[in-house]
Amino acid sequence: MKKQVKTAAVLFLLACVSMTSCDTSKKENNNNMIEKVSFGKLPDGQETELYTLKNAAGMEVKISNFGGTVVSWTAPNKKGEFEDVILGCDSVAGYVKGVPYFGALIGRYGNRIANGKFTLEGKAYSLAQNNGVNALHGGLKGFDKVLWTATPIEGEEPSLKLTYTAKDGEEGYPGNLSVEVVYTLQKDNSLKIDYKATTDKTTVINLTNHTYFNLNGNLDSDILSHEVTLNADKFLPVDKTLIPTGELKPVAGNVFDFLKSKKISAGINDTTDTQIKFGGGYDHCWVLTDSTKTLKSAATVYEPTSGRVLEVLTTEPAIQFYTGNFLDGTIKGKNGIIYKHRSGLCLETQHYPDSPNQAAFPSTVLKPNETYQTTTVYKFSVK
Ligand code: BGC
Repeated sequence: MKKQVKTAAVLFLLACVSMTSCDTSKKENNNNMIEKVSFGKLPDGQETELYTLKNAAGMEVKISNFGGTVVSWTAPNKKGEFEDVILGCDSVAGYVKGVPYFGALIGRYGNRIANGKFTLEGKAYSLAQNNGVNALHGGLKGFDKVLWTATPIEGEEPSLKLTYTAKDGEEGYPGNLSVEVVYTLQKDNSLKIDYKATTDKTTVINLTNHTYFNLNGNLDSDILSHEVTLNADKFLPVDKTLIPTGELKPVAGNVFDFLKSKKISAGINDTTDTQIKFGGGYDHCWVLTDSTKTLKSAATVYEPTSGRVLEVLTTEPAIQFYTGNFLDGTIKGKNGIIYKHRSGLCLETQHYPDSPNQAAFPSTVLKPNETYQTTTVYKFSVK
């Protein structure tokens, strides 16, 4: 008798367990659910998380609260096969060890500030010189290396809201800066990034995202056969430390002309061009022809083998097109793949580099009672 009771209890328990796991799988199959898993621990013991946004078309974007980093992103090729099209690491440890800003949110000031110095309202500020003599991408511990507070927002177009408050004086910048970045995976296979920030003291700000794309889907290949269009009739020539000289140079008649779609390989190795020499390839800021703050098409990339097309739309005035020239085969990424020279390209929408020191450039100053607000959309399709 006792044995029968015990068996019934065990059966009952088993039934409960199987019901719970059925429930979970139901949730996993539901596109509207945002799955959250551990992405590993930081050296100080803090846990990090990885969120998966999915849409009904089958696209999946994984984002970590560490650095607000886009870790993986699947997009269909012309046969409808989904493959990961961005560079990244398997766990947070890879990002902590140091990678060149793979997928990360960049701030407080994306791109370079000459000699790590600027003056604002008569006061001089000094930043870490973390890129030769210059300051790059927010400093030694920029927004790419901080833990953001994440709030998943489920729905047909799922979002991940990330917030972070940078302290007054953090990385040398003035003002407590409250930042909110919302990633939204839309039905049309686009990822929208809405950036917002407010400050309690006048400061400078230039936020962007630093995803390295390789539309081939084979992250072991380089991006030289990708065909690029940049809707920009001027670019910013730089000095040998990659600080803009201040000139806005027409692209017409030189290797910086991407007004009509062109293979990256066509001009990237033209070392008779001093600018190509300085960048080791393309690593420059293009000034969009349409300077309005509306959401307009800035760039299109097409990869012929896969048929994948990526269009970048932005409210920003410029875009840094970087061809992964500093990737040198020393980084092992997701699934053990070694990221070779030029195996990824970045399309970083932004204001011009070094604006805090160049009065003729559009202002990157943010004052208390103002709201910084920009939007960028990365949209995939095939042709
Ligand atoms: C810069 C490059 C730099 C890369 C990674 C890009 O935004 O323009 O010069 O090497 O980021 O740090």
